[in-house]
Amino acid sequence: MSRQTQAIIHADALLHNFKQLAAAAPASQSMAVVKADAYGHGAVNVARILQHVSSRFAVAIIEEAIALRDAGITAPIVVLEGAHQAKECQMAYQHNCILVMHSKAQLAWLEACPADRRPHIWLKVDSGMHRLGFALDDVAQIVTTYRHLLSDETVIATHFACADDVDNEFTERQLSAFERVVLPLNLPLSLANSPATVNWQASHGRWNRLGLGVYGGKVSTQALTDITLLPAMTLRASILAVRDVPQGEGVGYGQTWTAEKPSRIATVGIGYADGYPRHCPNGTPVMVKGQRASLVGRVSMDMITIDVTHIPKVEIGDMVELWGEHVSIDEVAQCAGTIDYELMTRVSQRVPRIVKYL
Ligand SMILES: Cc1ncc(COP(=O)(O)O)c(C=O)c1O
Repeated sequence: MSRQTQAIIHADALLHNFKQLAAAAPASQSMAVVKADAYGHGAVNVARILQHVSSRFAVAIIEEAIALRDAGITAPIVVLEGAHQAKECQMAYQHNCILVMHSKAQLAWLEACPADRRPHIWLKVDSGMHRLGFALDDVAQIVTTYRHLLSDETVIATHFACADDVDNEFTERQLSAFERVVLPLNLPLSLANSPATVNWQASHGRWNRLGLGVYGGKVSTQALTDITLLPAMTLRASILAVRDVPQGEGVGYGQTWTAEKPSRIATVGIGYADGYPRHCPNGTPVMVKGQRASLVGRVSMDMITIDVTHIPKVEIGDMVELWGEHVSIDEVAQCAGTIDYELMTRVSQRVPRIVKYL
């Protein structure tokens, strides 16, 4: 039998989360962001599951959109980084993708396309994050100059830097700077990611772009609403060895953990090559037989070791939850000094995604 290391993808949780977030913004339309292989959940699977509730999808790059087309997904796809090269304008047209334009170079590539073979576009505005987008002062002029490239699909979009932090006033500043410039243009807007959808009602535009929340990640520093998001991924692996380690003995590479008392140590078939973070320290929680246990010793490439001294009858083949319903991915991310976005997207291709439908 092969190794039992799996990412279980919960179709019901994806649907529940999308619907909850969409319902929080009833005047908007919502699209699922499925870039980076749907935050590690499997873009084709996720798009198939959500295609009846999400009438558009968003990806980062055109290759991600084409992979969805190859799998038979037909909804329009917004490409958030737009074109990296001129030829992508034609690819976007052929594949019914909407390019998010953030530079004059991209608009020039689009202008060079035959007028009847141009993809729809959005315009991206830099309202303060300073990553991508036209400067606020240039937006009105860009809209005037390139009006012939706009269509009834065109949306003016921006992105927030701090929307998960409800105490951070920067979101209000971005919002008002953006609105001051774009409201007079009288075009549809798209501002909110999932944190903004939950935390900043004033940011709800024509389209909200829902990523992390769809996957059950933590979207707010405070519980502002009664929205409950469910983890869409359970990362689990089985125990492949159990041993008694005498007091005073070290475990794993570098012997970073030493048994303070006689201990029972289980070896689990998952490591950093699977996407379990090497930075997880001693004490990072896992779940075995309905009880919490702790990671002990360094994370190896293919294995970890956990202390199961307090859990009776742990055996080879028992399943261990690394994150999911009982151990939140956010808790593990905090242990590893990172964020849930990174943990989700780093689950490697070696880990089969098993979609569970209820
Ligand atoms: C431009 C843009 N919009 C929307 C999203 C989705 O954000 P979130 O995952 O926080 O909902 C992202 C994700 O990084 C993004 O880059």
